[in-house]
Amino acid sequence: MNKKEILLFLTLVLPVFVNVQEYGLVRSDEFESSGQFANPFKQPHYLPLNLAIGGDNGGDPDVDAFPMKYEIDYVRVYQKKRGIRSGEIWPDDKGVHINAHGGGILYRDGKYYWFGEHKSETTSSAWVGVTCYSSTDLMNWKNEGVALSVSDDPNSDIVRGSVIERPKVIYNEKTGKFVMWFHLELKGKGYSAARAGLAVSDTPTGPYTYIRSGRVNPGIYPADMTKEDREITFDQKLFDKWWTPEWYDAVNKGLFVKRDLEGGQMSRDMALFVDDDKKAYHIFSSEENLTLNIAELTDDYQDHTGKYIRVFPTGHNEAPAIFKKAGTYWMITSGCTGWAPNEARMFSAPSIWGPWTKHPNPCRGENAELTFGGQSTYILTLPGETDNKYIFMADIWRPKRPIDARYIWLPIQFGDDGIPYIEWVNEWKP
Ligand code: GAL
Repeated sequence: MNKKEILLFLTLVLPVFVNVQEYGLVRSDEFESSGQFANPFKQPHYLPLNLAIGGDNGGDPDVDAFPMKYEIDYVRVYQKKRGIRSGEIWPDDKGVHINAHGGGILYRDGKYYWFGEHKSETTSSAWVGVTCYSSTDLMNWKNEGVALSVSDDPNSDIVRGSVIERPKVIYNEKTGKFVMWFHLELKGKGYSAARAGLAVSDTPTGPYTYIRSGRVNPGIYPADMTKEDREITFDQKLFDKWWTPEWYDAVNKGLFVKRDLEGGQMSRDMALFVDDDKKAYHIFSSEENLTLNIAELTDDYQDHTGKYIRVFPTGHNEAPAIFKKAGTYWMITSGCTGWAPNEARMFSAPSIWGPWTKHPNPCRGENAELTFGGQSTYILTLPGETDNKYIFMADIWRPKRPIDARYIWLPIQFGDDGIPYIEWVNEWKP
């Protein structure tokens, strides 16, 4: 090679094992087909380093200087700290997409615990149970494993293959127990059981012991049902044809409450709320998802007291999520379109017992009419005085591949009128 023409590239290929704590995830086909979204940067891999010698800027090197030893002492790799990125794969501490859908958060002793439905490749039914992840910054989550496991006993309510949805955990100061309620559907029975399930643990991460499941408040009329309505005997034909004026009137007056009175009210999508006075409430879709119930829990949070109200009969509200700010209770729900997104609804009340007032859709901007593609699941209230104190959480369902469902976490903002609203933010930090 002519001296003048020398342009030497010294290429060093070093195997570098990079231990990056916070990273952006590259999704490769290989990982996708394995069903796990593993982080390639956490696998052994090569980082090619190129050294160019000569050229216009360096000038001609002296060929007699070669061969030359080129030593690299260390390589430092930096990566931008990851904020919350709604809609994207959200890797846990092992680089695997977090599997905690329809979830909720418990805050205890400086740590956040995220509980949710474990979903698999092909089904939304419970093949594993309720999962738990922990975090101190809400961005980096450690997989704490299965908090409530499905059972292999075919006689168990929570046998593998049942439906366990929207688990929520609250801590009871009186008993020192962590109390989990969830929506349970019995295996092979579709969504007809409509039960509330209860499980309890001495530690936040579990394992939780399954206690029981059932319909709610059997034999008890809602507190807001008038004496006259309690005495009506409905014509059974009213069940045959829905959405007629007579049907609406009958549902408002308690057609389904009466139908289910003896065995208890249906309980599907649900939320739990602990008020400032430590009283807790179970909020759930009832009456074939036509009506929300707000039901008081006993002091140990493990039963219902029998006091409950109905909110928006015939309103078809699902996916309730609730928070309280300056004495006002705010509730965000969805409509009932299964896994498909729809427009969020918002309600407020001066007391948990109402009266509840409807507000316009709290979401703003592109795709707001579909809740940005998601369905509400929880509103997290951060402890102390802090920015972004209320976080709206929703699920972007992927019914064809349930494990790939995504999360929407967005800060709730407030207008000058104090009304909450939610805008999409690509990436933000709590
Ligand atoms: C949704 C509900 C989910 C799940 C799903 C089943 O409307 O919010 O929790 O039950 O329906 O289709």
